[in-house]
Amino acid sequence: MMSESPTKRIAVIPGDGIGPEVTAEAVKILNAAVRKSGKKLALTNFDWGADRYLRDGTTLPPDAPEMFRRNYDAILFGALGDPRVPSNQHAADILLGLRFKLDLYVNARPCYLQDARLTPLKNREEKDIHFIVFRENTEGLYAGVGGIFKKNTEDEVAIQEDVNTHKGVERILRHAFEYARRNNLTRLCMSDKSNAMTYAHDIWQRLFKKMRSEYPEINSTHQFIDNLLLQIVRDPTQFEVIVTCNLFGDIASDVGAGIIGGLGVAPSGNINPGQVSLFEPVHGSAPPIAGQNIANPMGAILSAAMMLDHIDWPKEARAIENAVHEAIIEGKTTQDLGGNLGTNQVGDYIAEKLS
Ligand code: NAD
Ligand code: IPM
Ligand code: MN
Repeated sequence: MMSESPTKRIAVIPGDGIGPEVTAEAVKILNAAVRKSGKKLALTNFDWGADRYLRDGTTLPPDAPEMFRRNYDAILFGALGDPRVPSNQHAADILLGLRFKLDLYVNARPCYLQDARLTPLKNREEKDIHFIVFRENTEGLYAGVGGIFKKNTEDEVAIQEDVNTHKGVERILRHAFEYARRNNLTRLCMSDKSNAMTYAHDIWQRLFKKMRSEYPEINSTHQFIDNLLLQIVRDPTQFEVIVTCNLFGDIASDVGAGIIGGLGVAPSGNINPGQVSLFEPVHGSAPPIAGQNIANPMGAILSAAMMLDHIDWPKEARAIENAVHEAIIEGKTTQDLGGNLGTNQVGDYIAEKLS
């Protein structure tokens, strides 16, 4: 459980590719944000990633989930994925391993347009794109249930099961409805593919129909995932809260990132409310742009702000969000957002605003 002391303990896993570059800026911003507050962050670095995996085979040590639960308040994560590990084994073990083993069942991915200039959509203002995707994060097609039979023969059979449990579906729907209620939001859309996945997604339909009657003040709707992705692009003003399964939430959140300026600005939290949770940008390790000081650190920095909310430091979280917002408005950004600053210069600029 979380400590109540003014010192919060944060595990930092920078990972691969641009992960370390953007995480370094997020750490810089965290330190700047708490410097004057009298609060303290104790950061501990974990060198898990492709280099370590290729060196000694380490992925997620067996005692890691328990260690995080006992000794840390939150985890700040960069990205994992490296062309030298085509199986993606280390990423699956570490990232999916932590999501599952820490039971981080809420993947919260806000899509908030910060500046109208950033969206590729025509005639859209900031207020038009402001929704959050709640992605189920512990089961579905990610559960790892399946196998390959007669591999590399013409008779090969490859199976990956879609696991949808009563508990798993109910708790993510509940989280989405409660979030909407708490924040006075009146539009909630559940998305599935129950017209084709007549077993796996029927349970989403039934539990959604039952739960929506408990929230009469919320206009809850349903869209099939193919239509949802179309509607997000066609008219994003329809959405405030979107809730969906693991795979569809992965895809919907990249589409959502695409209409707010790209993956460089999209943050996320892998959350078990009240428990140690993991915060990371939505993007991956982006190997082609790694090591060039051009990756946008804002997704990582905004993820750090989400982390501060989770550990109950909302004042510092808002300060970070405001500073990022100002930097965007002033055009002090990396090139993906049209600016000409390097990764570390964006971090320095935002840090300066905080101090
Ligand atoms: P990616 O997110 O790494 O990159 C997709 C595109 O977005 C690329 O054009 C990239 O240059 C751009 N981009 C991403 N982050 C950016 C940033 N901060 N600033 C500017 N541009 C940015 O996705 P991908 O190319 O599909 O995957 C690359 C590797 O990352 C793969 O190994 C994949 O498995 C992994 N991955 C990891 C995570 C994670 O750790 N959570 C998430 C997604 C992908
Ligand atoms: C994400 C990523 C991961 C996912 C990959 C790296 C397994 O795309 O966090 O969005 O699919 O969840
Ligand atoms: Mn993804």
